[in-house]
Amino acid sequence: MADITEIEDLKRIYKRRVPKMFYDYAESGSWTEQTFRENSSDFDLIRLRQRIARDMTGRSTASEMLGQHVSMPVALAPVGLTGMQSADGEIKAARAAERFGVPFCLSTMSICSIEDVAEHTNKPFWFQVYTLKDDDFMKRLFARAKAAGCTTLVITVDLQIMGQRHKDIKNGLSAPPKLTPKSIANMMTKVPWGLEMLGTKRRFFGNIVGHAKGVTDPSSLSSWTAEAFDHALDWDRIRELRSWWDGPVVLKGILDADDARKAVEVGADAITVSNHGGRQLDGALSSIRMLPQIMDAVGDKIEVHLDSGIRSGQDVLKALALGAKGTMIGRAFVYGLGARGEQGVMEALEVIRKELDTTMGLCGERSVHDLGRQNVLVPKGFQGEWE
Ligand code: FNR
Repeated sequence: MADITEIEDLKRIYKRRVPKMFYDYAESGSWTEQTFRENSSDFDLIRLRQRIARDMTGRSTASEMLGQHVSMPVALAPVGLTGMQSADGEIKAARAAERFGVPFCLSTMSICSIEDVAEHTNKPFWFQVYTLKDDDFMKRLFARAKAAGCTTLVITVDLQIMGQRHKDIKNGLSAPPKLTPKSIANMMTKVPWGLEMLGTKRRFFGNIVGHAKGVTDPSSLSSWTAEAFDHALDWDRIRELRSWWDGPVVLKGILDADDARKAVEVGADAITVSNHGGRQLDGALSSIRMLPQIMDAVGDKIEVHLDSGIRSGQDVLKALALGAKGTMIGRAFVYGLGARGEQGVMEALEVIRKELDTTMGLCGERSVHDLGRQNVLVPKGFQGEWE
């Protein structure tokens, strides 16, 4: 599509099309949103080194993430409520990822269930779990993911307790959403979105309702979510959860070199350097700023991925140049999905692929495997301005 040349174009359409409640849910961070903003603005502090006259033919963005071939090292991050951004949104996003040749990671808090996504796709996807208290429910989730053919388990470790997002509280976005007269009035202006939603049966948390103890209908969900998360989570528990899955495990939400070392000790296969897209600890440093020290600590021991703040192929290139083997995008694909469904996710991925490919060429590299510190100029103090 000629009118889509950057992720921002999809975001504009997304904002028009989706109810404010769900737009705000994606487009926000916790408290002052400082970390949310800096996740992206810190990428801008890193500059690229222009190189010329280095044969740029035959470039390739192809790589591997956890041994899996990927057309570019950019996975779709687990995003809750994706099926409210666009009807059957998880299925649409998973299909786009499959067509594009990148991993799709389904969230526990998805609208479409694991089984439903598996039924409507052909390739294995990744599954994300939160660390919950209920062992039976967790074990059943693991078993369901295994039975659905999921390859990789992503354990999100940065949401033991939940950061506060002002907009969600004000909009009544809870599980299930509390509809205020204002949000109903806003929804009524989003006609194409509303018609799509009326046309699907998938409107509740498909992995939870009917599966978790006491959650037989959507109205019982909010008391479950308040209770379910394991505030007592520690490294022994993470080691135990890891032992329940016999495939690759990613620990997502590591932002500290000491925690990265622990992740290696408990047997994770990869970590995602992430602050949950600025939705948890506001005031934490951006993922990209923390990446170099985490690479120094564990870069030779474990595969390192990065998310939070990526909005372009240049951002992906910078993360790879600083050592990440792969990246994940959250909002960048949600904008595409909300704007134009499956096609919009394809467009988001294509925008990023093209930017990555061209920028690689302008930096004088032909393969993502060759990207490294030689391609970037990092400002002094980028890692250590804060004591
Ligand atoms: C998330 N994220 C998230 N992570 C997770 O492990 N499970 C989840 O259910 C969710 N849900 C969720 C909803 C929304 C609306 C957003 C924006 C994010 C975090 C997500 O996986 C990822 O870490 C961030 O989105 C990365 O930051 P960017 O790419 O959105 O800036």
